[in-house]
Amino acid sequence: MIGNDIVDLALARKESNWKRPRFLDKIFTSDEQLLILKAKNPEIMVWNLWSRKEAAYKIYNRETGIRAFIPIQLECIYKSEASGFVICNKKVYYTQTSILEDKIHTIAVYKKEYFKQIMSISPEANIQKINGIPFLVDNLNKVFKPISISHHGRFSACITI
Ligand SMILES: CC(C)(COP(=O)(O)OP(=O)(O)OC[C@H]1O[C@@H](n2cnc3c(N)ncnc32)[C@H](O)[C@@H]1OP(=O)(O)O)[C@@H](O)C(=O)NCCC(=O)NCCS
Repeated sequence: MIGNDIVDLALARKESNWKRPRFLDKIFTSDEQLLILKAKNPEIMVWNLWSRKEAAYKIYNRETGIRAFIPIQLECIYKSEASGFVICNKKVYYTQTSILEDKIHTIAVYKKEYFKQIMSISPEANIQKINGIPFLVDNLNKVFKPISISHHGRFSACITI
């Protein structure tokens, strides 16, 4: 299983002020807040961790059927700007994050070896949603393959393994 999340920094700046009172307390654990406060660029760290939580949540939601706003339960273990994992209710999701100018993109996977198998999908492909969760449909073989879609501002990504 995979999940992905994109943040367009330009839009994030317009949509939400991460410096407003209690924003950090609502979204981030105390260890994550420490990472943000110590970071060379705290804004990038905020959205890097945010995209990890969202990407991991997309797997968690698919696996468990639990739909909820649970930012504190999605606990980021930060290894480097590009890698780490997210723990949610004892489940572990590995993450890889890329930062290119204003684009922060995280891919989360259930098993590390899936990182080598990530493929992009055209948004024009035969995509169907079941309970809001997207699948690539192979009409011939009646196979529903889990995919992950993310869009924010100028950027979007649609991936599978
Ligand atoms: C559902 C949610 C994950 C969508 O994320 P988003 O950043 O708002 O939007 P994105 O563009 O990245 O993702 C939207 C896509 O996710 C897909 N999606 C929704 N639920 C999904 C799931 N469980 N698994 C995989 N994909 C999912 C949809 O296909 C949607 O694309 P579409 O509308 O074009 O079909 C998010 O709104 C949410 O509810 N998060 C809760 C988790 C949480 O606690 N987050 C705290 C912030 S860190």
